Amino acid sequence: MLAQAAANTSPHIVIKPSGLALGADIVGADIPNLSEAGMEVIRQALADHLVVRFRAAAPSDRDFQTFAARLGPLRGSPDYTRSRPVYMADAPLVTVISNIVEAGQSVGEHGDGELNWHTDLGFEDEPAGFTFLLAREVPASGGNTHFANMYRAGDALPAVLRTRVERLRCKHQASHNAQGGKRPGYQDIETDDPREMPGPVHPLLRTHPLTGRKALYLGRRFGAYVPGLPLARSEALLDELWAHAALPENVWAQEWQVGDLVVWDNRCTMHRRDSFRGQGNRRMHRLVTRGERPV
Ligand SMILES: [Fe+2]
Repeated sequence: MLAQAAANTSPHIVIKPSGLALGADIVGADIPNLSEAGMEVIRQALADHLVVRFRAAAPSDRDFQTFAARLGPLRGSPDYTRSRPVYMADAPLVTVISNIVEAGQSVGEHGDGELNWHTDLGFEDEPAGFTFLLAREVPASGGNTHFANMYRAGDALPAVLRTRVERLRCKHQASHNAQGGKRPGYQDIETDDPREMPGPVHPLLRTHPLTGRKALYLGRRFGAYVPGLPLARSEALLDELWAHAALPENVWAQEWQVGDLVVWDNRCTMHRRDSFRGQGNRRMHRLVTRGERPV
């Protein structure tokens, strides 16, 4: 009877796992009107599946921001990641990821090219926690987002290699963006030597603050360096780890439809985006929660 009563107090939300290494659809969640019990179902789904999708959700920007803030304190994206800041009066923390140009200016970031594997804001001392992406406009094809399960990547490391990386850290270079351009504030950086590049140093295996599980935490390959190792050994070690990072059996791909809302946990996943050059307009609205210093 107790189990029956508990079931009746939870909303009519159904979790449908992708059946792959990560990812699940959440069906029946009324985003603007979720009870606290409904939020708990979503938090648990994120802990279990790492990436969740609400298909045809299409909340208003205001409801989008209100929902996201219930999963953690929101942070603005740094202004330097924007070609020009786009603020929405009723949802000021929402930023735009888009290739659309209006009146000669980009309305958002990241254009239409491929974005290599990365985790969001890994180049900061306290990288992003959850990222939320809401599809307002999608191209005819391309632009899919691929996610990798970094718990599984860490668990699959050969024992000797895992023992080795448990005590090593990695520098996440901060000076260059995903397209290879320099971020404002780093214009004077001329070096191509990963040892000389600026950026925070994070553990290679980090412990998730909510699940207690250990995940391989690589950030991005470009400019990465393992402090304390000769450069050649650092490069060899990182190449070996990256060979485990995004194996096909660890990946699930999101094929975007207008209205899709996808939430992922940057502490235990990486993601990449396919190019959609020449395929049309794509406009995503994005929010990010504050994360913590990886340990
Ligand atoms: Fe990203």
